[in-house]
Amino acid sequence: MSNPFIEEIAQQVSDAAGMAPDALTDLVEVPPDPEMGDYALPCFALAKTLRKAPDRIAEELAQKVAPGERISRVRAVGPYLNFFVNRADFVQKTLSEILAKGRDYGQGEEGAGKTVVIDFSHPNIAKPFGIHHLRSTVIGNALRNLFRALGYTVVGINHLGDWGSQFAKLIVAWKRWGSGEFTEDISIETLLELYVRIHEEIENDPDVESEASEWFRRLENQDPEAQNMWKVCCTISYKEFDRVYRMLGIAFESIAGESFYLDKMAETLGRLEKKGLTQISEGATIVDLSPWDMPPMIVRRSDDASLYATRDIAAAEYRWQTYAFDRMLYVVDVAQTLYFKQLFKALELMGYHWSRKCTHVVFGRLRFKDGGMSTRRGKIVFLEDVLNRAVELTRKIIEEKNPDLPDKDEVARDVGIGAVIYADLDSRRMRDVVFDWDEVLNFNGETGPYVQYTHARYCSVLRRYGKAIPPSDVDLSLLTEPETVAVVKRLEQFPSRIRNAAGTCEPSLIASYLIELCTEANRFYNTHRVVSEDEALTTARIALVYAITLVLAGGLRLLGMKAPERM
Ligand code: ARG
Repeated sequence: MSNPFIEEIAQQVSDAAGMAPDALTDLVEVPPDPEMGDYALPCFALAKTLRKAPDRIAEELAQKVAPGERISRVRAVGPYLNFFVNRADFVQKTLSEILAKGRDYGQGEEGAGKTVVIDFSHPNIAKPFGIHHLRSTVIGNALRNLFRALGYTVVGINHLGDWGSQFAKLIVAWKRWGSGEFTEDISIETLLELYVRIHEEIENDPDVESEASEWFRRLENQDPEAQNMWKVCCTISYKEFDRVYRMLGIAFESIAGESFYLDKMAETLGRLEKKGLTQISEGATIVDLSPWDMPPMIVRRSDDASLYATRDIAAAEYRWQTYAFDRMLYVVDVAQTLYFKQLFKALELMGYHWSRKCTHVVFGRLRFKDGGMSTRRGKIVFLEDVLNRAVELTRKIIEEKNPDLPDKDEVARDVGIGAVIYADLDSRRMRDVVFDWDEVLNFNGETGPYVQYTHARYCSVLRRYGKAIPPSDVDLSLLTEPETVAVVKRLEQFPSRIRNAAGTCEPSLIASYLIELCTEANRFYNTHRVVSEDEALTTARIALVYAITLVLAGGLRLLGMKAPERM
């Protein structure tokens, strides 16, 4: 998204170079050092059209482009054409817009009338909500917030893994080792123990596998006993999931797990067959994908059991019919990359033009730095334990640093959980995350607590100021020092960062933006006294501090974090 300054640059250069302004706006950058200029146009991209060396182009354009209403100076440096804005004008325009829009600053309506479906979180029932599902949950939720901020209708779907042979295995396990009735009072740990034990058993005794297949068949044929046990498993899991989602403050527009598609699968298979896409191979029904160098997609097993893939095709069809989405995002880890390629290819072969609207939003793995999380409950790290641990540790830090803080429990929750969320979103999603407690909770590092703390610090400046916020009668033209202008420039980038983050499905762009803003805000704060005898200057600086708190809080909210006003 461009601003009036970039538009003026594009317009002026377009006149001088004879190119369309639209092609130029996207090229404009912000130089790393403000001494070089406020904006820069790298001329490499123009070299092809203008058939000259980038340095020459920059030089010639510098001669031709005249300063305008908003641009005060133009200078060529190597292949770059650098622009200096009229800073007073820039500061005034940017800050008055932020003050006018308040909490809505950065948001937009460009998504109005468009729907984005986001398939995220999707833990598996009868298995614990493990830390490996944290990433999908947190990234998906941030994307949900980002698209909503841009006016899209967002349908967040929790495609729960609530169907499959794991239930049949659990039933077999319960039949062997369980005692008493299979009821909702059974703990998730017990289910996990059974699950682990039956898998060991399967290795030693292949008969267990066929016993489980038999139970899965009964389950799919709606055998009452099997169905009942399945329902109990679901209830046990829902209770755990609910607690986790409540801690994270996450909700879904639709919770439709894999079982939701059971009655839709026969038709899906029928359509695959009618389109001539299926073959029988060793008794199973497959879609051959060898022309695209991919293994076949198995859509029905030889024992007739349904499969994850078939349920996904049925789910995609259902979602298209129900939501007519403009985009559908599957936030699923890198291990399923090939699977989603197969799925999208199958949808394309079925003749669905909307297969192009489907994207696998890939992310890397998360692990703990050695000894970071004891595995009290078997091999799997429970997300709930991680969140509780983060809150506990934060509570201790607060007790040391600020024992008189009111609402300590609430703040510890907001900051502890925020720290976990931030740690997950902090680097590009494709990268693996290594979770190190000391780093995650470091109030001085590039962490969630640091951003929250910076926000709270400026909130306290506003509280101490004691007068109405936002201040009225502000003369923003008093804000001229380089540290001050640097903050305003960063604030001005917030709307375009939101668009970039949504467009690339990369919430980390917001996370890194917040760190940059904190650094610059702190530099401003450490260099200049906000409240002084100079009343007019004080008011102007307070307006800036208020704008900083608005954008920090807005950014934190987009990531799915809270922005406590005291810490
Ligand atoms: N429950 C699956 C798993 O944990 C992820 C589901 C992803 N969504 C989908 N539509 N396949 O691996």
